[in-house]
Parts: sequence; structure tokens; C-alpha cells
Amino acid sequence: MSAVLPPVVSVHLPSDWAASGLVDDVRRGLGSRPLRLPPKWLYDDEGSRLFDEITRLEEYYPTEAERAILRLHADAIVAASDATTLVELGSGTSDKTRLLLDAFTRAGRLRTFVPVDVSEQTLRDAADEVAAEYPGVRVEALVGDFTLHLGHLPTGGPKMVAFLGGTIGNLYVEERAAFLGALADSLEAGDWLLLGTDLVKSTDRLVAAYDDASGVTEAFVTNCLHVLNRELGADFDVEAFTYVAFWDPAMERMDLRLRADMPQTVTVPGADLTVDLAGGEEIRVEISTKFRPGTLRSELGEAGFEVVEIFTDPPGDFALTLARLT
Ligand code: SAH
Ligand code: TRP
Repeated sequence: MSAVLPPVVSVHLPSDWAASGLVDDVRRGLGSRPLRLPPKWLYDDEGSRLFDEITRLEEYYPTEAERAILRLHADAIVAASDATTLVELGSGTSDKTRLLLDAFTRAGRLRTFVPVDVSEQTLRDAADEVAAEYPGVRVEALVGDFTLHLGHLPTGGPKMVAFLGGTIGNLYVEERAAFLGALADSLEAGDWLLLGTDLVKSTDRLVAAYDDASGVTEAFVTNCLHVLNRELGADFDVEAFTYVAFWDPAMERMDLRLRADMPQTVTVPGADLTVDLAGGEEIRVEISTKFRPGTLRSELGEAGFEVVEIFTDPPGDFALTLARLT
């Protein structure tokens, strides 16, 4: 029996990160039209809890689809690679990741697991659990922003970077290209990327997945207004907004917004900002892009990753792409 190693947690966000980063984002996003808020502010403790609830909704198929792929193919994915370190970006509770960790353990290959997330408490809890469940694996958790802190990933030894849950689809096209380029820069030739992406499918299923009947997704998206009220002393009347989720066929993405039910003036003292919203005006909170195999290959190729295999669940709802940095 190997010993349980206590997790090491390093924090790469400055202590005022939420304050300063949020102020910049809010000035940029609510200081000009169209109004928009960046999604990483959805994941405070309450947001992380609500997201976890989303993953268990009947309508939200991506989590179970990705889990099915990992059940079927985790051993093949591990066998195809030579990685001894597993990095996970936007790891959250690392729930599905255990299927990968199990496969690495069966192969007797994993030395280090590096979960990366902005949500510090969720990450600490997950790191403790994984360390206890996988004796002999070093857990080196990194509290950081995967759009800013990829330079802190460990070096030495082949690694696999897992980026699950379709989170890459929450980046805009140009952010996605910048992210993949920065990721490639932070890796060594021969390192592996395991990328989870949702696939284009019927509009009805997509809209249901992001506008569930029980209103959990609405609560999750609306939570960002509570974050602004709490962190920046804003006076959003949360009840005066309606959640709107629609499919944008040209961009092939879900577009998730909060619509002001009536004209209103909102003050955000912490960002030194006043926003006059017209009745019906919308704030875009999040996009969730859906992919096709061809675009995956070309976007990964642009960044220097060669696709080794695209695994899908039996109904073909979700894809897990194994790629290698050339
Ligand atoms: N991988 C999990 C969770 C996906 S939810 C799954 O597949 O179910 C997205 C996760 O990414 C959340 O835990 C959120 O806190 C984290 N996240 C969002 N933006 C981030 C950023 N810019 N940097 C680091 N983590 C981020
Ligand atoms: N990565 C998830 C996705 O795009 C995040 C998510 C799930 C989400 N449900 C949401 C984001 C609802 C905003 C609103 O599917």
C-alpha cells in the first residue's frame, strides 16, 4: 500500500483578484454595448454548487454523455499516451476525472495529478478527496485562471491535459484560439490534450439543456448578478431580469442572457459605474459553443495539436478528442 500524500495547493490568484479582475471585467463588459459579463464570475461557492446541480438534471445530457465516453474509452486513452502527469483545467469537483484516474491507476502510470480551477474552495475539497482516494498519487492543485496561468503547469515528464465538460465552448472564437496557442506554448512536444466538447444537435435538446424546467440553470446564470451586488455593492434588482437562452445557428452556439424586464438604472459603486438599461435590453452572460469533428481538427491543428482519435458516446452527442502536440 502506498501512503496517502497530503495535497499541495498553490494559489496563483492575488488575494484581491476577485476584486480587481471583476472590476476590470465589469467596466469593460457593462461600460459599452452590447452588454456582456465574462462567465468565470458564475463560479463563486453558490455558483459551483448550482453547476453541480445542473450536471444532475435530466435535460443536461453533456455530463452523462462525457462520462459514458470515459467509461468506454478511458483505458484506451491512457494506453495510447505515455503521460505520467495528469493536469485538469477547470476541474471543479473532478467527478468524471476519477474514471481517468482509475484507468491511469490500472496502468500503474500516474505520478502526479494537477487540478486547476478559479473556484478555490471547490478545488481544495476535490484535491483532498482525490488525494485520499488515490494513495501514491501526488496531488498538486493550482488555484488559477486557465486563461492566464498556464505558465505555472509542471514541467518534466510527459503529461496529459484534460479539459472536460465542454468548458472550451464557453470561450469566444478568438479567446479559444488564444487559449489553445497559450496551452501549446506551455506544453512540450509529445504532450497530450484530452478535450471534451459538446456537438451540434437538435435545437430542442440544446435549448432544454440550458433552460431546464426546474429553473436551476436560470438560478445559476442569475447568480452572477448576486456576485456583482455582493462584491461591488451593485444594486441589481435580480427579480427584474428574465433569463433568455437561445440557439444562434450562424455561430453554432447557445447564447445565454439576462433581459431587463423594464428600463432601469443600476449603480455599481465598486466599479465606479452607472448602467442605464432600456426595457428589454439584454446582458450576455455566457455562450456555449457546439462543435463538429472537422472544426475540432482544424482549430486544434492551427494550434499545433494533431488529433489522434475523436471518441464519442454511442448516440454521438459529445466528443472527447485525444490530441498530441507536434
Ligand atoms: N470539469 C467539470 C466542471 C466544468 S464547469 C465538469 O466537466 O463537470 C467549469 C469549471 O471551470 C468550474 O469549476 C469553474 O470554476 C472553472 N472555471 C471557469 N472559468 C475558469 C478560468 N478562467 N480559469 C480556471 N477555472 C475556470
Ligand atoms: N461548460 C458548460 C456548458 O457549456 C457550462 C454550463 C452548463 C453553463 N450549463 C450552463 C453555462 C448554463 C451557463 C449557463 O455546457
